[in-house]
Amino acid sequence: MGGGRGAAAGRLRAEGAADAAGGRAGAGGIGRVGPRAMSAPAALPGAPHLVRDGAVLRLDGHDLAALGRRFGTPLYVYSRRAMLDALAGYQRALQGRRHLVCYAMKANSNLAVLQTFAQAGCGFDIVSGGELDRVLAAGGDAAKVVFSGVGKTAAEMRQALVAGVRCFNVESEGELERLDEVARATGVRAPVSLRVNPDVDAGTHPYISTGLKGNKFGIAHADALAAYRRAAALPGLRVVGIDCHIGSQITQVEPYLDTAERMLDLVVQVEAAGIALEHIDFGGGLGITYTDEAPPPAETLVRRLLERVDARGFGDREILFEPGRSLVGNAGVLLTEVQYLKPGRTDEGGRNFCIVDAAMNDLMRPAMYQAWMRIEPCRQRDGVPLRWDIVGPVCESGDWLGRERDLVVQAGDVLAVLSAGAYGMTMASNYNTRPRAAEVLLDGTQVHLVRERESTAELFARERLLPG
Ligand code: LLP
Repeated sequence: MGGGRGAAAGRLRAEGAADAAGGRAGAGGIGRVGPRAMSAPAALPGAPHLVRDGAVLRLDGHDLAALGRRFGTPLYVYSRRAMLDALAGYQRALQGRRHLVCYAMKANSNLAVLQTFAQAGCGFDIVSGGELDRVLAAGGDAAKVVFSGVGKTAAEMRQALVAGVRCFNVESEGELERLDEVARATGVRAPVSLRVNPDVDAGTHPYISTGLKGNKFGIAHADALAAYRRAAALPGLRVVGIDCHIGSQITQVEPYLDTAERMLDLVVQVEAAGIALEHIDFGGGLGITYTDEAPPPAETLVRRLLERVDARGFGDREILFEPGRSLVGNAGVLLTEVQYLKPGRTDEGGRNFCIVDAAMNDLMRPAMYQAWMRIEPCRQRDGVPLRWDIVGPVCESGDWLGRERDLVVQAGDVLAVLSAGAYGMTMASNYNTRPRAAEVLLDGTQVHLVRERESTAELFARERLLPG
């Protein structure tokens, strides 16, 4: 990694395993050493819908411990209002100009969540045929879908062409050729936007940095003009736009602005070559507050990008964004019940383990990126906090949700892992034959179970014993 343009000076990145202090300095929410979870936090950063009401933790007014007891744990709980409020930030700033917010549904693809965004006028950024199926099942409009991803299969291309997606964000010359073939065979001209890799450092964790030369994504900036010429010459394709994505959990505007300049340079060149671009897609959204990050509001990002667009005379183009995390991340929590407390001989190097019923299979981010996610008791207890590692039942030492958290807990308590609305449930697995969690969507005073807990029978229903 490294070496990209606009490298944010002094940014620290997570790498390797978590250190003994329970995390590493890293880009936002990923391995960052966070403040110790205090026993009585005054405010829950970044999540205005989540409040500490006396001892009770409430999301949209609902008592989270009670929800955990009612639906069982592990349980994801989301606030519909928080999602719509987050979306409104983008929409306000884009008002009065042609635009489309394509929710990056990889962040959270529950049908009711998709339905919420579809009803609010969103399109969707998809990366698989499966995600397209979900959009359609949720009542979304294929004509508002952009199809991203480096490895689209011919079958997925056909599926998307027949459904009538808004465009394919093409990431390589090989993909252009294949899409042209599939489009001609299907009899539907494929709308194409090229995903350009601007070689800009987003200042985020290496695993979720996508706009550097060394990343697998997009067509290199230097090769983009030639790729546009090729695309324009292929009869099965119709060039409609330009697109990029430089990474996720980006907490500063500057990498986006650097990217915008490089994209707009290309727009000038591509149009000078006689190829019109109807839309400009700036990719994903901003990062969120997991601990002490302070990303600017979406309005600021959008406004500053639009200034650049207008300054270059492209104010008449449709503007697209593909935000994921910032729309749903702080709208959700993962509830988990404490099973056992296993204090260690800390004076001899041991650790205190708080063993909960959620694990890395439910929430992968801490194990995968050393992500620091805030953990709060749903009912705060009085007492002297002890320093706990919050770990799951999975048989791996990397199975932790949080390390070195100062909490007053007892077996049977319900804890909430905050900011779990994005890349939580969508990355869950059935490792250790653990059924995936249930999901609840709060809509004002209403409580909707939007995904039932899996049964173990469902997990192996498609498996077969050998005959005899
Ligand atoms: N568009 C494309 C093409 C993407 O690949 C992504 C995210 C987005 C949009 C949305 O970006 P956002 O607004 O969410 O930053 N699992 C990781 C995050 C992976 C992000 C991958 N791409 C995590 O838990 O941090």
